Amino acid sequence: MPTVLITGCDTGLGVEFARQYAADGYRVFATCLDPDTAHATHAIQGDVRVLKLDIADLAAIDALARELRSEPIDILLSNAGLGKHHPPFAKTDYGQWHRILDVNLIGPMKLAEAFVEHVAASPMKVMAFVSSRMGSIALNLTGGSYAYRASKAGLNAVVKGLAIDLQPRHIVVLALHPGWAKTEPGARVDVDRSVAGMRAVIQRCGRHETGCFFAFNDTLLPW
Ligand SMILES: NC(=O)c1ccc[n+]([C@@H]2O[C@H](COP(=O)([O-])OP(=O)(O)OC[C@H]3O[C@@H](n4cnc5c(N)ncnc54)[C@H](OP(=O)(O)O)[C@@H]3O)[C@@H](O)[C@H]2O)c1
Repeated sequence: MPTVLITGCDTGLGVEFARQYAADGYRVFATCLDPDTAHATHAIQGDVRVLKLDIADLAAIDALARELRSEPIDILLSNAGLGKHHPPFAKTDYGQWHRILDVNLIGPMKLAEAFVEHVAASPMKVMAFVSSRMGSIALNLTGGSYAYRASKAGLNAVVKGLAIDLQPRHIVVLALHPGWAKTEPGARVDVDRSVAGMRAVIQRCGRHETGCFFAFNDTLLPW
């Protein structure tokens, strides 16, 4: 069966990705910031291995890649992220900026570099990055959320670059938007629907779609 590695499986979309892939018979490497508190992830039925990974810790990403060096990874799924709560203009918290960039942008880039051989060795060869339409410069009509928007816009730039650089190795690279998923109060899209939609996009996309930005409902989003 195919293998998927998912980051940020402590809560939210990450847990649901792990649950759905495990239910479909995938081998799942579910990485958590703190496996000791990730009770929902431990409770998932199926071939799920819970592993510790702080995506902001670049040495830890290398160490995990070494630990899994004999494992082909069909889908590398960068899901961990933060920055939902962001101060408005003139109240910027620059410590928070650095933290958001470390987790949402620099960690995912390092993940791609550390795991490229694992993905290249697999039959499916997919890297998928959970971005956000908040990272679309074209769709920014409301301002604010500077750190979060910048981190996801940067992630989108990384996706585009990886798609070009990894095309000769037949690796498909995608940016995904989950919709406003109900891991947040007031949100509209059920978590299972959001994840099922993103999984369908991952499943259907091939070399013609590499370097594209898709919402969970298969809408192509502008950068
Ligand atoms: N929900 C939405 O509407 C929405 C919309 C657009 C994009 N997204 C994106 O979707 C992804 C998943 O978000 P979510 O809605 O499921 O929110 P979430 O429940 O907060 O999930 C994010 C996960 O990332 C983990 N995380 C935070 N810092 C980490 C680190 N340094 N290393 C590893 N994991 C870390 C969090 O762990 P802790 O819980 O322990 O902090 C959490 O489990 C994120 O990239 C987010 O930006 C979500």
